[in-house]
Amino acid sequence: MAEIDAAVADGRIPASLDQVISDAAARELPYLQACIKEGLRWLPPIAGMLPKKTPPQSDTINGHFVPGGVTVSWCVKGIHHNPALYGPDPQAYRPDRWIHTSTGGDEPSEEKIATIERNNDLIFGHGKYSCLGKSVAVIELNKVFVELLRRFEFSLMKPEEEWRGGGCFGIFLQKGLWVTVRKRELKV
Ligand code: HEM
Repeated sequence: MAEIDAAVADGRIPASLDQVISDAAARELPYLQACIKEGLRWLPPIAGMLPKKTPPQSDTINGHFVPGGVTVSWCVKGIHHNPALYGPDPQAYRPDRWIHTSTGGDEPSEEKIATIERNNDLIFGHGKYSCLGKSVAVIELNKVFVELLRRFEFSLMKPEEEWRGGGCFGIFLQKGLWVTVRKRELKV
């Protein structure tokens, strides 16, 4: 919210509520980008096994021989909560892991940030099966949080209670996460 308010104040986001933030302007908000990446990583929206079959003549995957006709799937949570990449706190929601220390984040290695960004690309699938709606989804994510958080303040109604998911059916359902929404006084 502080990043959004600062961007409105110095004109990087149009002050008028009739204008929705552009995708290009949202890409220039580092903390927003970090929150989106961390949210996608922490609870990847598509968690189905997305099975693929090797060709009849077999295949070699990441150096491993796999016979033909074998179904290979991924474990999306394993990939995005891998301690080798996200240690020591893969289960934590920590947007600062995506921001370099030189710009106020937690991560001292540019190379590490590039690696985890490549890993996050897998959230939309890969290769010929990858998500056809990725660019639309990314534009939506870039706009929705800015426009909501400019206007409203959200707080958990029962912060002491653990969030219980509504189950995973290939796509996660959420329920029981009650929030209080207050209209913000706009500084325009
Ligand atoms: C954050 C939001 C989204 C995520 C994480 C996501 C992720 C994915 C994943 C993982 C796949 C399957 C890849 C595979 O089978 O290996 C997929 C397929 C697909 N997605 Fe998305 N998606 C999102 C939003 C959207 C949106 C908004 C649209 C449409 C505007 C869309 C359209 C499609 C289509 C058409 C396919 C099938 C592609 C094919 O099999 O050729 N997705 N998506």
